Parts: sequence; C-alpha cells; structure tokens
Amino acid sequence: MDLVAGARPNFMKVAPVLRVMGASPGPLCPRLVHTGQHYDEGMSAVFFRDLGIGEPDVHLGVGSGTHGQQTSRILAAYEEHLLGSSPRPAAVVVVGDVNSTMACTLAAVKLGIPVAHVEAGLRSFDRAMPEEVNRVVTDALADLLLVSEPAGEENLRREGIPEGRIRYVGNVMIDTLVSELPAACALGVPARLGLPAAGFVYVTLHRPSNVDDPVRLARVVEMLGNLGGRLPVVFPVHPRTRERLRAAGLESSLSTAPGVRLLEPLGYRESLGLMAASRLVLTDSGGVQEETSHLGVPCLTLRPNTERPVTVSLGTNTVVGEEIERVEPLVDEVLAGRYRKPQPIPGWDGHAAERVVTALVERYGGGPATPSPCDS
Ligand code: UD1
Repeated sequence: MDLVAGARPNFMKVAPVLRVMGASPGPLCPRLVHTGQHYDEGMSAVFFRDLGIGEPDVHLGVGSGTHGQQTSRILAAYEEHLLGSSPRPAAVVVVGDVNSTMACTLAAVKLGIPVAHVEAGLRSFDRAMPEEVNRVVTDALADLLLVSEPAGEENLRREGIPEGRIRYVGNVMIDTLVSELPAACALGVPARLGLPAAGFVYVTLHRPSNVDDPVRLARVVEMLGNLGGRLPVVFPVHPRTRERLRAAGLESSLSTAPGVRLLEPLGYRESLGLMAASRLVLTDSGGVQEETSHLGVPCLTLRPNTERPVTVSLGTNTVVGEEIERVEPLVDEVLAGRYRKPQPIPGWDGHAAERVVTALVERYGGGPATPSPCDS
C-alpha cells in the first residue's frame, strides 16, 4: 500500500499512520512516497528527522511550479511509478489537501487503484482556495473517506457519498502532537530565544490570500508591527511569504519593527514548543487551528472562513475574516483573560492512526486470514 506525502503539513499526518503500520506488520505493506512538492531542509527533511520517519521508499522530486505545472508533474511522475510497480499497491493513502494529495489521487484512480483519503470532508466552501479544489476533487474520487471532524461527515453525506465509505477516525495530526509535545517542550525554545514565559505571540502566515497581494500584505505587516508594540511577536517565515515580503519591499520594515522577531521556517518540535508556550497564535494555517485548539492556546485565524469549524465551536479558534482591525480587540480579550476555554473534540485523542489502520485493513487488507504480500 502506498502512503503519499508531499508538503510540510503532510508529514505529521503520515508519521503516526506509518508508526502504527510498522508496530504490527500486517497485510498492508506500507511504502512511503514523497512527491518532493516541498524539498528544502527546513520544509521537509527536518520533519522526517523530528518525527522519526525513515527515508521515503520512493522520491518523485517534482519541486515547485505553478499549480498546473506542479500538479501535472506529480500526476505524471506518480503514474509512471505506479505503472512500473509490480504488484500494484492494493490501495493508495493520501492525506490533507495539498496539490500532491489531489494529483496522486487522480493518478491512482485512473489506473483503477482505490484511494483512501485521511482528513476527508473538510470544506471551506471557498473555491478561490487551491486547497478547497484539491479537497473536492480528492473526495469525489476517493473510495474510503476517513474523517477528522464532525463537519466532515455532514459535508460528505450532503455530497451524496454512500455511508459505507465514510469513517470517522479523528485527527491523526493530534496523534503526532500528543506524542511529540514532551520532547517539544523539553527543547526550551522560548527561553533560548529570550522570550517571556507565556507572554508572546506566535505567528504563521503563508496563504496566497494574505501574502500574494502587496496591499493586503502591507496591512498585515502594519498590524504585526502594532502587535509587536504590545507583546513580543515571533514569526517563522514560510519561503513563499519571504519571497512576497521581499518583492513588496516590506521585509526590512517588518524585520526591524520593535518587538517583532522573524525566523527561518522551524522544525516540527521547535514550532510546537513555541506554539504550546505562547499566549496567543495568529495564523492562516489549517493545521495550526487544530493544534492550538488541542493545546488550549487562543488562535486568531486571518482568513474569511475555515474548513475546520469544530476548532471554532469547541476549540480556541476565532476566524477573524478580512478585517484586520478585528485582531486588536481580540488580543485585548486574550490579555484580559476573557477568551473562551476549549472543550474536548471527539477523536482528537492520540489514537486516530490506530483507527485509520483498522479501517484500511478491513477494506484492503483481505482480513487476518490472508497472507501478507510482504511475505511473497
Ligand atoms: C503548500 C500547500 C498549502 C500548505 C502549505 C504548507 C498546495 C496548493 N498548497 O503551499 O496547502 O498549507 O504548502 O507549507 O499544495 N518553496 C521553497 N521550498 C520548499 C517548498 C516551497 O522555497 O521546500 C517556495 C517556492 O518558491 C514555492 C513556494 O514556496 O514556489 C510555494 O510552495 P508551494 O508548495 O507551491 O505552496 P505553499 O505555499 O508551500
């Protein structure tokens, strides 16, 4: 069975699934495929090290490009790999919503290989987001839809997916958080950076909707500068954001703003250690909305919508929308201790990967009586 990972947010989703598969080798025979959508040390290799994922079995090395270029390169490279595989995998497992997720789904399904989608059913209902297109296409083609939050099941039912193909398994990314949190905290990253205990803001921003338009980016930079005047701001800068800050001539004003500290992209543990210790997180990432909800850290999401509504209803997330002015009063609420407290989310318990593997074995493993293809 192939397990596909391509970009940074995929690695913490495949890690626990691989670990469970490896702990009790059964009929699934996992083979890790890295598409190479992300390739820098800080965007890929550090995650493999932090999360103890072995070298990928297959590396497609596709790299960056426009959406059409990147998607078509992954599609062609993965199809070629599948055509050369003997025997072909019994199924392909894809995770999340990046271009690699959709492209590998297309390649597999066209060759008659069933696809299982981990994190199925999330919908922002905003097709201007490239990830939304990836989600809709992947779920329309997938055979087994493994759902991480309650809205996912509702969305898939509404789209007419038969009940027997939908399984609520919970959140595999929270499995990784639960197992890595002690090591992440032990690194003592805030102290190493000279940050006051629980008195700083952790920022991650990379979505095209925030960074690609120079006017919007200038407003974001101004808001971060103002925030830095109130409490320290730590911002590991995604390569896309770095590129856009430079192109808009905003990099030096942000990096010299009092209280603002720009960093290179961080590894998983360093990032988690900072997030867990922060007073407040400001983000446009999907995964960070989930991680902060589990950690109980207030999260302000700089987007008009979220495909992860449970982070708002039960977690710590507030979707700020387009109006950057809404950030300041929300920061006031957090600093005054008036921000709401989270409640537990079903299936975000550190055991989602076990449920994923059980579902995969039931559907593709041929049951316990079938000899493992690894033995042949
Ligand atoms: C991708 C995902 C997004 C995810 C994000 C996490 C899609 C459509 N988007 O966005 O959902 O939240 O990853 O990081 O799949 N670059 C590097 N080094 C790398 C990778 C990228 O420098 O290792 C630079 C390149 O200039 C590239 C740009 O970042 O053009 C954007 O990378 P890309 O993978 O196209 O999209 P992301 O913005 O990272």
